[in-house]
Amino acid sequence: MAGQESYAGLGQYPSKYRKLALKSWLRMAAVFLVVLGLGYVGFSSFRPTSKAALAIDPRLESKFCDIPHPGRPLIQYVLMIDAGSTGSRIHVYKFNYCKDHAMLEDEIFLQIKPGLSSFGDDAAGAARSLDGLMEAALKGVPESLHACTPIAVKATAGLRMLGDEKSDRILAAITDRLTKNYRFKLIPKGAVEIMDGKDEGIYAWITVNYLLGTLGSSEHKTAATFDLGGGSTQIVFEPKFEVRDPTKGGPRMEPGEHRYVMAYGGQNYTLYQHSYLGFGLNEARKKIKTLIAQEASDSGKLSVEHPCFPAGFRELVPLNGGKSQVTVMGITKDSATPSSPEACYKEARRILNKDVTCTVQPCSFNGVYQPPLDKTFAENPFYIFSYFYDRTYPLGVRDEFKLADVKALMEKVCKHDTALFASKEQQEEVGAENQYCMDLSFQYALLRDGVGMADDRVVRSTRKIKDAETGWCLGASLAVLDQNRYCKPGY
Ligand SMILES: *[C@@H]1O[C@H](CO)[C@@H](O)[C@H](O)[C@H]1NC(C)=O
Repeated sequence: MAGQESYAGLGQYPSKYRKLALKSWLRMAAVFLVVLGLGYVGFSSFRPTSKAALAIDPRLESKFCDIPHPGRPLIQYVLMIDAGSTGSRIHVYKFNYCKDHAMLEDEIFLQIKPGLSSFGDDAAGAARSLDGLMEAALKGVPESLHACTPIAVKATAGLRMLGDEKSDRILAAITDRLTKNYRFKLIPKGAVEIMDGKDEGIYAWITVNYLLGTLGSSEHKTAATFDLGGGSTQIVFEPKFEVRDPTKGGPRMEPGEHRYVMAYGGQNYTLYQHSYLGFGLNEARKKIKTLIAQEASDSGKLSVEHPCFPAGFRELVPLNGGKSQVTVMGITKDSATPSSPEACYKEARRILNKDVTCTVQPCSFNGVYQPPLDKTFAENPFYIFSYFYDRTYPLGVRDEFKLADVKALMEKVCKHDTALFASKEQQEEVGAENQYCMDLSFQYALLRDGVGMADDRVVRSTRKIKDAETGWCLGASLAVLDQNRYCKPGY
């Protein structure tokens, strides 16, 4: 399996510091050798070619091979700028073609603040703000490769909040500046754009499966990715439908927006993806509080106890667009509705709208079609990210675990007794966040009742795979390389 090697290779990296030290040492050695070499060629009255210098620039060499796959360049760089709402980040990816497919060899990244959207009307200022990031690109990519290095700027949904007119002017100003001031190649399609939520999920899926080494093989043992953000949550997987008799059709994925057909590494992938807007953790918290607050308000109350919160918790929850409000409080000891993990979980489950009409069967929740996990995705790995990770890792539910372990953790946290946790760090972690019980209840409800995962299903949670960051940027860069050729063999 070709992909596996790329991930074995990544695991061999020394730590960042050692790498830096090694790099500067190599650079010094390179300068020394260049001086020596130039002296020599000067002596032998041979015309000094840039080739002598090129051959020893480590940025032009691979750690894994000297000779590239036939028809491929040895080294290919890709620049990907992630323009998020709070800041922009550049990733300078170095790939090699020791094999027929791109293998990630090195990554540099740099972040600047604030994000593009903070520039508002000042489109030129927004474009200029990326210059700092481009410094990393100019330093990281050897000059001889600039013209064959693709670049893309993908903004996430935050920029759209400025409105179409302002955000379009910012995107145009960036395109203009990148074209005029740099020799890097803007990718042919969607070089500077606001990315579709759908693409973000798909690219993240590519990243994970690339790092796992599951792409490009006819076995299609691809992992599912489920990312819990603040505003929305996204699920992507490759369902398997048993087609017993192809002429009769048999069960298959229903057509619709959720179906995403993609070619990668010589294989075709038919993916299921859905982005649930309004079901990210922050939005879910609001919904879980508002449901109870609204019911209290409807029956003329000004305050209400909520089973998800510890005693002493108080929060004003605005209703009807701020026209009224209700105080949501934690459950007190002598309360009529005693606090219990089940009571909070029930509240969390309510926001999933399981009883909403399901037009295309079967549905996960909120009326959304989804192929059933137990029948179409029973065996392959299932990765959960972001807030899923943030709420389980600190409390010791790590790496690989069963959904039942999330349930057990939820039940423990929802007793609102920090003494139940053994270590001081864990006690502080739980004590510092009084929405912990609500968060875990929502996460368990989302996995169990939402997408329909069984309690004994094994899931994996991580930030990094083989020392590389997960997230959409690497996947987007790989997709760019899979569909286009930039550097010629021998440069
Ligand atoms: C992928 O789809 C294309 C276009 O439909 C087809 O020509 C090709 O044979 C397919 N490849 C594989 C490996 O099934």
